[in-house]
Amino acid sequence: MKKTVRDVELKEKRVICRCDFNVPMKEGAITDDTRIRAALPTIQYMLEEGASVILMSHLGRPKGKPNHDFTLEPVAKRLEELLGRPVQFAPSDTVVDDGVREKAAALRPGDVMLLENVRYRAEEEKNDPGFSKELADLADLFVNDAFGTAHRAHSSTAGIADFLPAVSGFLIEKELQFLGEAVDDPKRPFVAILGGSKVSDKIGVIENLIEKADTILIGGGMAYTFIKAAGCGIGTSLCEEDKLELANELRAKAEAKGVKLLIPSDSKLGDKFAADCETQFADSTAMPDGWMGMDIGPKTIEAYTKAIAEAGTVVWNGPMGVFEFPAFEDGTKAVAKAMAESGAVTVVGGGDSAAAVKQFGFEEGMTHISTGGGASLEFLEGKVLPGVACLQDK
Ligand code: 3PG
Repeated sequence: MKKTVRDVELKEKRVICRCDFNVPMKEGAITDDTRIRAALPTIQYMLEEGASVILMSHLGRPKGKPNHDFTLEPVAKRLEELLGRPVQFAPSDTVVDDGVREKAAALRPGDVMLLENVRYRAEEEKNDPGFSKELADLADLFVNDAFGTAHRAHSSTAGIADFLPAVSGFLIEKELQFLGEAVDDPKRPFVAILGGSKVSDKIGVIENLIEKADTILIGGGMAYTFIKAAGCGIGTSLCEEDKLELANELRAKAEAKGVKLLIPSDSKLGDKFAADCETQFADSTAMPDGWMGMDIGPKTIEAYTKAIAEAGTVVWNGPMGVFEFPAFEDGTKAVAKAMAESGAVTVVGGGDSAAAVKQFGFEEGMTHISTGGGASLEFLEGKVLPGVACLQDK
C-alpha cells in the first residue's frame, strides 16, 4: 500500500502535485474536462488542510519544445471555475525559471498555481534528474495524482520522487483500488472483454488475464486475427499475419487453464472502411471476399451479453467495432448497455472504451471508469507503473 495525502502533514507545506490534465481540445477549447474534475478531490483536500499547491501536467505531445498549441492556460481557466478560487498560471517556456521560482516561494496556504506544460522541456520524457530537481526545488512534498500518466517514467511523474517525499493523491488511490480489486480479488465469474484493432497491443493483457479471468470475450479488429487463425476466411478485415500462431497459442493456453476464450461467431461487414459503406452480416465461417468485419454481429452480441449478465465482475478494454461509424456501433453499445444493466462490479479501462461509454450515456451504470488509457492497459498487463512505484510505502 502506498502512502496518500492523508498520511502526511500538509499544513503550511508547499506541495507540487502531478495531475493528468491531458484533456481533449478543439480550437483551443476543452471538449471533455473529466480528467480535470477527477483531480479536484485531492486539490481541494490539500487546500483545506492548509497547503499551497503547485500543479503540473503535460498536454499532448509538443516533443520537448515550447509550442503554444499545447499551452495549459485553458486548463488553468477551467480549474479556476471548478475550484471557485484563483489559479495563478505560470506561462514559462522553460516551465521553471526565476519568475516561476519567485511566484512559488510567495505562495500562501490556500493558493494554487499551475505550471506550463512539462513536455515543453525535452528533459521531461528522458526522466532527467536535473529537471526533476528543478521541479522538486519548488516544493516540500510531491503528490502524484496523474493516474493516466503513471505508466510513464518521466521527471514529473517519477524522477521528482528522488528529491522529495512522495505520496499519492485520491485519484491514483481510487484507480488502484478498483482496477486492483477487479483483477486480483474479483467476484466470480470474472469476465474480461478485450477489443481494439490490434492483437499486438493486447497480448500482455490477454496473457495476464488468462491467469485470472473465467471468461475472455474478444472483439474489435483484433478478433479477425483470431478468426483467421481458426482457419476461416476474413475478406479484407484487419489481420496481423505475424500473430496468427500466437492467437492459436493464446486460445490453447486459455483452454488448458479452463478459461473460456470466446471469439465472434458472426460480424457486421462493410464493403469499404467508410461511414456510408454497404453493409451485411455474415458468420465467421462464411465471410465473403472483398468485405471487411467492422463490428461483432447479432449472434455474438447475444452470447457476449449473456456472459456479462451472468458475471460477478466485468473488466472492459477496447471497443467491439468501429463505433465512430453509427452503422458499426451496435456491438460496442450492447456491451456497454449489458455492463451498465448487470449487477456485476463493472470496470472500464480508459481511452476508447471510456469514450464509448460516455458517447452512449452509460457512465452512471458503471462501478468505475478509469481515467487512464495506456496506464490502465499496463496495469491490466500486470506491469509495475513507475508513477506508483516511486511513492512511499505505508
Ligand atoms: C494519456 O492520455 O493516455 C496520458 O495522458 C498519457 O499521454 P501520453 O501517451 O502522451 O504519454
